[in-house]
Amino acid sequence: MNILVVGNGGREHALAWKLSQSSRADRVFVAPGNAGTAQDAENVDIPATDVKRLLDFAKQNEIGLTVVGPEAALAAGLVDAFQHTGLRAFGPSKAASELETSKVFCKNLLRHADVATADYRVFRDARAATVYLKERDDMPVVVKADGLAAGKGVIVCDNRDQALDAIERIAIRKEFGEAGNQIVIEERLHGQEASVLAITDGHTIIAMPACQDHKRAHDGDTGPNTGGMGAYCPTPLVNEQMLEYVEERILVPTVHQLKRSRRPFRGILYAGLMITNQGVKVLEYNVRFGDPECQPLLMRLKTDLVDLLEATVDGRLDEIAPPEWDPRPAVCVVMASEGYPGSYDRGQPVRGLDDAAKVPDVKVFHAGTKLKDGQVLTDGGRVFGVTALGTSISAAKLQAYTAVKCIRFSGGWCRKDISDKALG
Ligand code: AMP
Ligand code: GLY
Repeated sequence: MNILVVGNGGREHALAWKLSQSSRADRVFVAPGNAGTAQDAENVDIPATDVKRLLDFAKQNEIGLTVVGPEAALAAGLVDAFQHTGLRAFGPSKAASELETSKVFCKNLLRHADVATADYRVFRDARAATVYLKERDDMPVVVKADGLAAGKGVIVCDNRDQALDAIERIAIRKEFGEAGNQIVIEERLHGQEASVLAITDGHTIIAMPACQDHKRAHDGDTGPNTGGMGAYCPTPLVNEQMLEYVEERILVPTVHQLKRSRRPFRGILYAGLMITNQGVKVLEYNVRFGDPECQPLLMRLKTDLVDLLEATVDGRLDEIAPPEWDPRPAVCVVMASEGYPGSYDRGQPVRGLDDAAKVPDVKVFHAGTKLKDGQVLTDGGRVFGVTALGTSISAAKLQAYTAVKCIRFSGGWCRKDISDKALG
């Protein structure tokens, strides 16, 4: 069948690469894609949120399965529009996607489902939030804009003054626009973070091996927040017993509560977790593959991804064999442009990709790249996700950094400590 992947990041390159390996895949298209997807699949020049044009393209090209990467496309109702026309699209509906697109919806759902999460209060205006903060003890809190804010609407505060400043930024200065129409103030949790992604058709829920992302820009988890500077899988932070707990006490009640709320969920449910002294708590949900978590996960997936995603869309995940994983761990190191996550230049020529491709057990996933006259140029903040398998996490790490060293572009940088928390 013909397949369409929607998006243009490292996640979408990994999806297109894996889907292309299926014996069931004829042509694999990526809209709009990047220089890497142009090599492993075929790019289509349509933005990820242009639902109408994507729908027309899918009809004209007999697309049998559309796989949506980014949350913005889900929030734009892409899956609803496709299903309405009888086309298979992988991902949750717009209504179910509110689990990610509204922090208020997510927190209230977790409360109703009795899933462990930070204590919280919701406010509609700055005044009420300010009164609340002044009346309670000066405790560390996290202040969040309700809506999507490109990962920037979450402000982790050490004290009341910082929290008051956060409220001003979100609700008065409207730094995140409409996303700040409601504010969540929650208890600040402490511990290690891990991500557990599950695939579900709304009935069957299959948790994948746990991953760990590295959200801060610099080594030792310092510097500003980013989209993610690297990830590895599996993480020993989540042992088998903990993964069982996450399935039974977090994922299952969440999926059931969504069904009860008449927003049945089909797709990838991504639980961002904090492992605290009081147990595992949910920090947030995403409703799609994580980027970069998708890259190490798909490097390890042995099962045919077309079969897995199609069974999910068709609601028969219970009928297929559970996914099989390569026992070797995988490590993904993100290479970024100078200035990221702030402003950065585009259009820097990239060298050394052929040498990097020769490093065994490595795949270089492109994120922010484009092709111009056959030359790969940088075209984003996160440029590559260099991903390697190894007999151990440290072996995979070594292999990934060996490939990273081959790749050169002006201003290019990466964290040097991806996966070290697994070793410590
Ligand atoms: P979110 O978008 O909700 O995942 O928040 C982004 C990041 O903010 C998380 O990965 C955490 O590092 C941090 N964060 C969010 N909520 C909390 C919390 N309640 N306590 C401590 N850190 C948090
Ligand atoms: N890696 C974090 C995310 O995809 O949101």
